[in-house]
Amino acid sequence: MRKKTKMIHGGITGDERTGAVSVPIYQVSTYQQDEIGKHRGYEYSRTGNPTRHALETVIADLENGVSGFAFGSGMAAITSVMMLFQAEDHILMTDDVYGGSYRVMTNVLNRFHLEHTFIDTSDPELVEAAIQDNTKALYIETPTNPLLKVSDLKKMAEIASKYNLLLIVDNTFATPYWQLPLDLGADIVIHSATKYIGGHSDVVAGLVVVNSDELAKRTHYIQNSVGAVLGPQDSWLLLRGIKTMALRMEAIEANTNKLAAYLQGHSQVVAIYYPGLPNHPGHAIAKKQASGFGGMISFDVGSREKAEQVIERIKFFTLAESLGAVESLVSVPAQMTHASIPRERRLELGISDGLIRLSVGIEDANDLLEDIEEALQ
Ligand SMILES: Cc1ncc(COP(=O)(O)O)c(C=O)c1O
Repeated sequence: MRKKTKMIHGGITGDERTGAVSVPIYQVSTYQQDEIGKHRGYEYSRTGNPTRHALETVIADLENGVSGFAFGSGMAAITSVMMLFQAEDHILMTDDVYGGSYRVMTNVLNRFHLEHTFIDTSDPELVEAAIQDNTKALYIETPTNPLLKVSDLKKMAEIASKYNLLLIVDNTFATPYWQLPLDLGADIVIHSATKYIGGHSDVVAGLVVVNSDELAKRTHYIQNSVGAVLGPQDSWLLLRGIKTMALRMEAIEANTNKLAAYLQGHSQVVAIYYPGLPNHPGHAIAKKQASGFGGMISFDVGSREKAEQVIERIKFFTLAESLGAVESLVSVPAQMTHASIPRERRLELGISDGLIRLSVGIEDANDLLEDIEEALQ
């Protein structure tokens, strides 16, 4: 099955009993047992729920993995994956990861002695040099949020296999429509499904896909033990979102290319970050490892004041955290998504006060272009 077909026919589709074309929402917590300990596949919805299971099956199919797992948010997914490790284990992480991932490592999981080092994973030599005796995993975000830095997943997989590390990839920005980390050697893929997979700004969810039965067993054990599961209604919203993901991703990328080309030459734009632009440092790798460049652009207008002026004037880009929806969104990472990272550290990473991040939607590109043009004047 090709990927567009998989989005419609992958995983579990419809309902065998009634012929319903859409998977029903099994709004249920517990299941009748035929005898003590003899059930029909489901016993309690934290352990397994048919609607969630349909979603978990289709995401595993889309990512070419062995098993999928749905969580109550992207952060619940990330934290649950971190529960695969133990105190004194060390994780090497991309340095400009999503602010929430930074926060959970530095302010929560550190209290349980899970160690971490943030490193520029676009440079394989730095990664290899940072490996310690207790390093157990490489955790990569590519492209990153908000600077759209690209890491070479094949190179990361080579390093991971050389040092016997798990390779974990946050594939939120690229989506399985454009990038398949497991095919490139990753062991675990994570999504904030709140973004492109849901696609309509109406659900908060996280997904994990693993590449082996052994990891599947361990991940299910954690999912069931920790219990940060996704409910049936939200699982169904994601099932619906996935059906139109191909169309949305194509439309979003077409719009993004036009906006990136416009912004690149603009006199008010000090810097632009979009992996689809040939002069982006990660362009060649992004082109090699993904079939599309996604719908995120960040650009720097030089100062906090100018960024605030743009935000005040812009009409069709809703000022909001989050990304990946049909409607275009705009944010100022330094004051919003990445505010939890200390300013000094943000500046070190290149997340300047004048940085504006766009999540491009599926509106008419001409309206979006005119809107940006007016806001930048
Ligand atoms: C790349 C990335 N990973 C993870 C998350 C966390 O996901 P959630 O907000 O669904 O918990 C986000 C949220 O913005 C994100 O952008």
